Amino acid sequence: MSPAEFDRFARSYDEDLAKSLAVTGESREFYAQKRIDWTAQCVGHLGRPVRRILDYGCGDGANVPMLASRFDAEHVLGVDVSAESIAVARQTKAEPKMQFLCTSEWTPDGTVDLAFTNGVFHHIPPKERVACLEAIRRSLEPGGLFAFWENNPWNPGTQFVMSRCAFDEHAIKISPRHAKKLLSSAGFKILRTDSLFYFPRRLSFLRPAEALLRPLPLGGQYLVLCENAG
Ligand SMILES: C[S@@+](CC[C@H](N)C(=O)[O-])C[C@H]1O[C@@H](n2cnc3c(N)ncnc32)[C@H](O)[C@@H]1O
Repeated sequence: MSPAEFDRFARSYDEDLAKSLAVTGESREFYAQKRIDWTAQCVGHLGRPVRRILDYGCGDGANVPMLASRFDAEHVLGVDVSAESIAVARQTKAEPKMQFLCTSEWTPDGTVDLAFTNGVFHHIPPKERVACLEAIRRSLEPGGLFAFWENNPWNPGTQFVMSRCAFDEHAIKISPRHAKKLLSSAGFKILRTDSLFYFPRRLSFLRPAEALLRPLPLGGQYLVLCENAG
């Protein structure tokens, strides 16, 4: 099997990401926690119980303990195409309720309440994206939720950060409009779309305005929250 693109970034991922995010003044943890908190808030409004979570494209597994803790989940499974990234995740995040698998070892089994993905699909070749989304949908319970987070090509700050990021060289960005089309064609029903991260730390006094800007598709990242309608 040929090595996955992220095998060569698995050990330096944290450092590479920190370098590209430095311009925003915020850390990887800041963005990860905000994404997970916003996901939890949206899921909370729907009143759905979340016991089993999938983190698709989990990389080094950094989101997995954060998801487990924020949702008080019974089980969080991280899957990734990069065997090296899964090795790092297994070494650094060892807790009984957390599990890590390569996509080649994973069989979607319809038991997941909430699937989560962040910054993964712009690394998947366009022709393979729907098949990956269908696998995620098959992993979900009927009516199970999917939080699809992506970097927004309509935001100039995102364009700048990605242009300086070591592992984004081959990224093919996905607009919010295109994401919704892809998700619908894979059998998801779109529930809501929000965009976050408008202002860097030095403009943090403007962040209260983000609540008003959230429905516009212009933030640094966006969430499409959808459900398994298949
Ligand atoms: C930018 S990293 C994001 C890692 C993690 N989601 C995070 O938020 O820190 C993109 C990840 O997507 C993974 N990836 C790329 N193509 C994939 C695929 N077809 N299936 C699963 N994971 C994939 C890469 O191996 C890499 O770990």
